[in-house]
Amino acid sequence: MMKTLKEQVVDNQLPRHIAIIMDGNGRWAKKKGNIRIFGHKNGVTAVRDTTEAAAEIGIEYLTLYAFSTENWNRPRTEVDALMSLLIQTINKEVPTLQKNNIKLVTIGDLSSLPVDVQKKLQEAKDQTKNNSRTTLTLALSYSSRWEIGKAVKDIAHKVKEGTLDVDSISEETISQYLETSNIPDPELLIRTSGEQRLSNFLLYQLAYSELYFTPKFWPDFRKNDFYEAILAYQGRERRFGKISEQLTKNI
Ligand code: IPE
Ligand code: IPE
Ligand code: MG
Repeated sequence: MMKTLKEQVVDNQLPRHIAIIMDGNGRWAKKKGNIRIFGHKNGVTAVRDTTEAAAEIGIEYLTLYAFSTENWNRPRTEVDALMSLLIQTINKEVPTLQKNNIKLVTIGDLSSLPVDVQKKLQEAKDQTKNNSRTTLTLALSYSSRWEIGKAVKDIAHKVKEGTLDVDSISEETISQYLETSNIPDPELLIRTSGEQRLSNFLLYQLAYSELYFTPKFWPDFRKNDFYEAILAYQGRERRFGKISEQLTKNI
């Protein structure tokens, strides 16, 4: 019998953290002769499928780019529709998170979100805070340059107060001041829809991540697509600046 994609995934070589730029909702809808928001609504199925797949195979951290700082510049009607969709989705999906032992957290400038969205998110985070199988991080009103700017300011304040010594600032210190302070860097980044760019996502954290691009639009992304990306990752050699022989022969 042929092994399924899920069975082909090597358990002891799983990435701990996978980040995804969920892209292509608008084009998916347009291709079907529909309005963009129809694509966003159908993207929710892909979110559920991917989150379940991650929990099933034991991925510790899954981070989804759901709304960027730059996305505020979209037409007002689309932004409003995305915000209502967010509320509806949280209402509907919290039971899925509970069932799969998934903890919801967020990164981004939450204070810029409508108050009802902030409240819903807080409720969902409180309800799931003791779950431990997978941490699902939603990036909302997030951009990497915003995050880095904020970290620099926070560090500067500490130095000025005298609680942080300038000479002690290391790469690790910087990581600790980012929104992702409690989360390891992603080993794998997936972007759907064929675009090959980072769009201001996790610039510091992705320094050594493997990048995987698929032409599929996000609403069509399913468990098997997720496993395929992990298999591609498992076929890569991560050298971190060393040479190939050093990895296998311990020289
Ligand atoms: C991704 O799909 C979802 C968000 C950015 C909110 P898009 O809405 O960017 O869809 P395309 O890229 O225009 O097709
Ligand atoms: C990136 O997608 C942001 C999210 C997926 C939330 P965009 O569709 O906004 O990115 P660009 O504009 O194509 O770079
Ligand atoms: Mg897009």
